[in-house]
Amino acid sequence: MSLPVRALAAADAARIEQHLLRLSPADRSLRFAAGVVTDDTIRRYVAGLRFGTDAVLAMVDDGGDVVAFAHGCVYSVGKRSRVEVAFSVDAERRGKGLGTALMAEARRFAESIGAHSVLGMCLARNAPMRQIFANAGMSMTREDDEVHACCQLASRPRDDAARQAAPR
Ligand SMILES: CC(C)(COP(=O)(O)OP(=O)(O)OC[C@H]1O[C@@H](n2cnc3c(N)ncnc32)[C@H](O)[C@@H]1OP(=O)(O)O)[C@@H](O)C(=O)NCCC(=O)NCCS
Repeated sequence: MSLPVRALAAADAARIEQHLLRLSPADRSLRFAAGVVTDDTIRRYVAGLRFGTDAVLAMVDDGGDVVAFAHGCVYSVGKRSRVEVAFSVDAERRGKGLGTALMAEARRFAESIGAHSVLGMCLARNAPMRQIFANAGMSMTREDDEVHACCQLASRPRDDAARQAAPR
């Protein structure tokens, strides 16, 4: 049976950290699009997660371990918010649709906050990640060894939506 995707809280930071620390050096490099990703870098990254603002989503197994993790970083350009997503799945759990399920939930999160678009970035050699972006209907552009993916959402900016919903 597949595990549900759930939003995590600050109290879950240690298990997120353990999941990311389990990634091999090559996978850390793919996840963070960086050359060498040290344990300290991962700890700093987890310490900086904005629970309650960003999408911090995971699948957690029966033992309480995070086996798949998604971070959707929310930021604004003008009045429009965007969500930039990144994913990781425990090596032995890959190829079973977990990354795809995280992508779908991250998109739902973006829609729920009225975001204008969902963005993603991966190294060009990251075939599974590119496939997930493609399956999600995201358009992709290549810049050197990176692929940038984007998908505009039908939702309106939150301010506009609130104004139109307000009683006159
Ligand atoms: C990228 C990652 C999250 C994918 O997770 P996953 O759970 O294995 O993904 P899924 O099983 O949902 O889907 C993978 C898709 O890629 C496809 N795929 C897998 N290997 C592939 C390959 N070598 N070439 C092309 N497609 C491939 C699968 O067939 C599947 O597509 P489909 O649903 O059309 O059949 C996982 O590999 C990972 O954690 N990698 C290390 C960190 C990383 O690269 N993060 C991405 C940074 S944003």
